[in-house]
This record gives sequence, structure tokens and C-alpha cells, in this order.
Amino acid sequence: TARGQQQVLNKVIIPVAGLGTRVLPASKAIPKEMLTVVDKPVIQHVVEEAITAGFTRIVLVTRSGKSAIEDHFDRNAELEQVLADKGKDTLLAAVRDILPTGVQVISVRQDEAKGLGHAVLCAAALTGDEDFAVMLPDMLIDPQGDQSDMQQMADAYRRSGKGQIMVEAVPEDQVERYGIVDCGGERPVSGQSAPMQDVVEKPSLADAPSNLAIVGRYILPGRIMELLKTTPRGAGNEIQLTDAIKALLQQGGALEAFTMSGVLYDCGNKSGLLMANVALGLKHPETAAELKGFIEGL
Ligand code: G1P
Repeated sequence: TARGQQQVLNKVIIPVAGLGTRVLPASKAIPKEMLTVVDKPVIQHVVEEAITAGFTRIVLVTRSGKSAIEDHFDRNAELEQVLADKGKDTLLAAVRDILPTGVQVISVRQDEAKGLGHAVLCAAALTGDEDFAVMLPDMLIDPQGDQSDMQQMADAYRRSGKGQIMVEAVPEDQVERYGIVDCGGERPVSGQSAPMQDVVEKPSLADAPSNLAIVGRYILPGRIMELLKTTPRGAGNEIQLTDAIKALLQQGGALEAFTMSGVLYDCGNKSGLLMANVALGLKHPETAAELKGFIEGL
């Protein structure tokens, strides 16, 4: 989208149709996105990150067996009444105000597990030709400083009119787990964007153009949806969002890689979920003191 014809950026697609095999058996009967970090399910942390960055339409791409996520963002009148009757105002606010006025959660279904690109495409009817964000719910980012990386990246989009892909440098032996971007050897600075030349999904170390990994936060031009319709299956025999982004770059589309500065936790795996709980638990007023004492005593 060229500067000037930029529309309002208010929709974020959050794919939640994954099976959560890396956190079994915890995710056998509940969605992995409902596993908790301190006092909230992971998905609520991510939705709050989206809301703080200015998004008001939260589009969940979901599947059967995942309705607990939709229920979590819905009202629970009976619970609210009980808490109100008992005068438990803080708890009442905590369950009632999960979504601020003006923010809406919309869900669409992904009928087949055909990959992240396919999941995003399932929301195409809702985004039309608007630019939109994508946030992967496994990834939790603990901000350094007042503004989240997602807020800063949305600002970078508004300033430049260019799509943004959030990245972080990872150890070389981990490049094969991620989408890896090529910024032409430019040394990225945290909190800033650099022009992107290419991207490759889960390359071998030998084929990786850098060690800058896509961390699961994107602001994309609406045209990506058209490209996804014809994106063939790629790495892992799945339709990859990364491949549609690559096609956009090949057609001369301009995108930037935004280097994050917060701390990233992959809550889609067991150790990442535990680390997020320890790190955020040490900051939460209700748990910090007790948890600190416990860790020191280990
Ligand atoms: C997906 C994306 C990949 C990105 C990663 C971040 O992969 O395809 O480009 O780096 O998320 O978590 P997945 O983790 O679903 O295999």
C-alpha cells in the first residue's frame, strides 16, 4: 500500500487451529492457547498485546475442539452475577473487562490443517483488500520499556506505509526452525526497520541468508491474500505464509523487517511455557514475592 492510500489498520488475524502436539498431554482436551501464563491463558496475553497496539477486530482462525477460546472472550453472565452479589469487584472486573468496549472477536473456521498460509487465507473474506496484522499465539513477548514491539511496529507501518515483519536474531543452529529474512547483510537495530530483500521458510544453515528469524508478528499488505490463493505447498508440505511474502517481494512489493527488543517466549513448547511463567510470575504483584522466595530456596 503506497503512502496516502493507506487505510485504517484495525484487523489482526490470530490462527488458533493448531493441534498443540508439542505440549501434549496438557493440550489433549483443552486448546494449547488456553494454557496459563501466571493468571491468564496465553491467548489473552496475545489479544491484550493486539489491543494495546490499536487493533479492534480480532479474527480467530479456529477449528473444532477449540470453543473454550471463544467462550473466554464472551461474557459469562452467571459468573458475573455471583461475583457481583459477593462484592468481589476486582475479580468481576477481571472477568468482565477482558475485551474493552469497541473491540470485537470474530471467528472463522479452518476446515483442514494445510498450514499457516492457508489459515490466514481463511480470514480473507473478513479483511477484503485491507492491510492486516497476523499474530501467532504461541509467541509471547515481554516488552522492554513502555511500548510493546507490536506498538512500535504498527507505528513503523503508519510512518512508512510498508508492511512489517518482526524478527529477532537467533543462534545459528536454530535457523531451520523459522522463516529467515534477508536484509542484504544490514545490521539490524532493535526497535527499527530495515528493507527486506528475501525470505525463506525453515532453511538449512547452509541455505540461510542470515540468522534473523520471523517471530510471529506481521503487518501485511492486503494483496497477500491474492498471493496466498495460488501459493503452492512448501516446507513441511504446508501452504506457507512465508512463501506468499516471498512472492510479494519478487513482484517488487516493499516490506521491512522490524527487529524486536522485548524478550520472546515460545509457549507452544513445554520449556518456553515454564520460562514465561517464571519470568512473568516474578513481575506480577500477587505472585512475585512468594515465587522469588521459592526460587531462591531451590
Ligand atoms: C511459523 C512460520 C515461521 C515463523 C514461526 C515463528 O512456523 O511459518 O516462518 O518463523 O512460525 O514461530 P511454525 O512455528 O508454525 O512452524
